[in-house]
Amino acid sequence: MGSIFPKDFLWGAATSSHQIEGGNTNNWSKWEKETAEERAKNIPNWYAFPEHLLTEAKDPLRRISGMASDSLHRWKDDIKAMKEMGLNSYRFSIEWSRIFTQKGLVNEEGLAYYRNLIKELKENGIEPMVTCWHWTIPIWADEEEGGFLSKKIDIHFREYIRVVAENFAKEVKYWMVLNEPDSIASKSFLLGDWPPCKKNIFSAAYFYYFRMVEWHKIGYEEIKRVNPQAQVGVAKPNVYIEPYNNHIWNVGIAKLGHFLFGELYLKRILKYLDYIGLNYYFHMKVGIRGERNDNDRVSDFGWWMRPDSIFNVLVHLKQFNLPIYITEDGLADSKDQYRKWWLDETFEAMRKALRAGVDLRGYMHWSLVDNFEWAEGFWPKFGLVEIDPETFDRKIRKSGYHYRDLINQER
Ligand code: BGC
Repeated sequence: MGSIFPKDFLWGAATSSHQIEGGNTNNWSKWEKETAEERAKNIPNWYAFPEHLLTEAKDPLRRISGMASDSLHRWKDDIKAMKEMGLNSYRFSIEWSRIFTQKGLVNEEGLAYYRNLIKELKENGIEPMVTCWHWTIPIWADEEEGGFLSKKIDIHFREYIRVVAENFAKEVKYWMVLNEPDSIASKSFLLGDWPPCKKNIFSAAYFYYFRMVEWHKIGYEEIKRVNPQAQVGVAKPNVYIEPYNNHIWNVGIAKLGHFLFGELYLKRILKYLDYIGLNYYFHMKVGIRGERNDNDRVSDFGWWMRPDSIFNVLVHLKQFNLPIYITEDGLADSKDQYRKWWLDETFEAMRKALRAGVDLRGYMHWSLVDNFEWAEGFWPKFGLVEIDPETFDRKIRKSGYHYRDLINQER
C-alpha cells in the first residue's frame, strides 16, 4: 500500500541558536551566569530524571550555555547526521545578538555563519526552515532599550528582520518570525522563571496578545517585502486539553483553554500567516479542581507522554484552513527508551490526521542534537543525536536510525 504522506513532505529536525551554537552573549547568557548556582540547588520535585543525571542537574556549570553543542564550529557534522538519517529539511534559528553584536552595527561574521549553513544545507538537498526569534535578545536591547516588554525595541527588531530578510529571504522559502510566544509570555512574565523574571498577569497578557502580535506582523512585512513568495508562519505550542469527565464545568474549562491559548493568538495574526507551525509536547486533562494526570508514563522532564494526542491538536487546527507543519515534537529521554515508541505513535497520528483531511506538510523532530535546555541546562536529552559533553562528538541514537527507517517507509 502506498504512503498517505504527500511526496514533497518535509522530514526534518529542529534546533535553536542559543541552544546549540555556543559562544552567545545575550540576555539569557547573562541571566544564566547570575542564577546558575541557585537553579542547580533548587531542583523541582516534578522532574523524573533517572539517577545518573542527578550529578549533571546539580552542577551549576551545566546550567550555563557556554559552548552549548558547539554547532558554531560543528555545523557540518550536524548536516552529516541529517544526511545519515535521510532528512530533507532542518529548522534552526538566527541569533539576533550574533547579527547585531552592537546596537546599529551589522556583524558580517554573524551573517556569514548563517550564509554558509544555508548554502551547505541546500547543496545537500535539505530545505532550511528559519526561525527569526527563539527567545533571546541582545544585551544592549535589554539594558538600553527597555527589554522586550518595551515598545522602544520594535524599531530594532524591524531592523534585525530587515537585515536577515535582505540577506536570506530570496533563498529561504520557509520562515517563522517567532517561536512560541506563549511560552515566553508565561515563563517570563507570569511565572517569573525566565528572564526578565516578572510575575504579573497583566504584563503577561499584554506581552502575549499585543507585543507578540506586533512582532509577528513586523517580521511578516519585512520578509514579504523582500520575497512575496516566502512562506511565513509562527511556531505555536498548542496543547490538547481534555475535560476530566463530561461534567459541564470541565467541558467549559477545556473549551475556554482551547480558545484563549490555542486559537486567540492565531486569530489575531491570521491575516499575516501562510501556514501554522505546531510545536507539540503536551496533552492535558483538566477539571474544576485543576489539572489531572492519569497516565504514569512520563519523560525525564516529568512531562506526561501522549504522543498520539497530536492528532487531536492537528484536527483542532484544521479550522484555520492553512497548511500545517509540525515544527517541534519530541521528549527528554536520556536512555533513549521511549523515543522510538514516541515516533511510532506520532507517525500513526500523522497518518490519521492526513486521512481526516488535515493539510499536514512537514514534521521536524525536537531536537536534532542534545542541547542546552534553557533554565534546566544540559541534563534533559532531547536529541536524535547524542553529544559527548567533553569532545562534542556526534553519535546518532538508535531512535535516530529508527526515524530514518520510518521516513524511508513513507517515501
Ligand atoms: C522550545 C524549545 C525547547 C523545547 C523543550 C519548546 O517549547 O521551543 O526551545 O527546548 O520546547 O522544552
